[in-house]
Amino acid sequence: MRILFVGDVNGKTGRRMAAARLPLLRRERGVDLCVVNGENAAGGFGITGEMADELFRAGADVITSGNHIWNRKETADLLLHEPRLLRPSNYPPGAPGKGMFVAPTPHGPAAVINLMGRVFMPPVECPFREADRLLGELPPEVRIVLVDIHAEATSEKVALGWHLDGRVSAVLGTHTHVQTADERVLPKGTAYLSDAGMTGPADSVIGIKTSIAVRKFLTGVPVRLEAADGPAQLNGALIEVEPSSGRATSIERIIFREAGQG
Ligand SMILES: [Fe+2]
Ligand SMILES: [Fe+2]
Repeated sequence: MRILFVGDVNGKTGRRMAAARLPLLRRERGVDLCVVNGENAAGGFGITGEMADELFRAGADVITSGNHIWNRKETADLLLHEPRLLRPSNYPPGAPGKGMFVAPTPHGPAAVINLMGRVFMPPVECPFREADRLLGELPPEVRIVLVDIHAEATSEKVALGWHLDGRVSAVLGTHTHVQTADERVLPKGTAYLSDAGMTGPADSVIGIKTSIAVRKFLTGVPVRLEAADGPAQLNGALIEVEPSSGRATSIERIIFREAGQG
């Protein structure tokens, strides 16, 4: 079976790109499950119900997120009513929503798990132990498991990949918005990529308008960050999984840029 994972959809440009490319990718690459990180869908900060619906209509089966999931006040309520929209599972008890969803696919049930790192990130519970706990909860018939680890530090993401090797189908990083080139299938059958990248404005500072971001670095003065526009890119990964065992057999990075890009 084939799983398409799409890195952080950023602002209007990212949503436009997702709407245009997801249906094509699904059809052309025979995708059975599509997971999209949507934490930056609303102008770079959070996601609304309408935007989640937009991504579901475009072909997402499950939407994962990260630290920006709390940017919009209404999202807390949305998390309670839309089980296909996840927030990192290792937020402390009492946080609304859930971090795992089991999606039906033509090859049987597939669990999607959303976790967040702790290095240079808001304080949360241990993602390693949370992963162990969630895997212990899963019924044995769920053999296909995909993990979105939303984290800053590659060391933490690499360590989680090894920790889960052979126990999940894929561990895919998000949050930095810059795709890494370390995709591989680990020895026990887990597909791994430190960061899937960003789906959004290609000419930007990780999604933010370049002039604003550069000015912030030059002056150190806090500014109101604004999502960039212009030509779009789509970043993600395509993972092939053997449904009977849940083991990954291949992982391929997806990079698509609109015309006009070098
Ligand atoms: Fe992000
Ligand atoms: Fe993030």
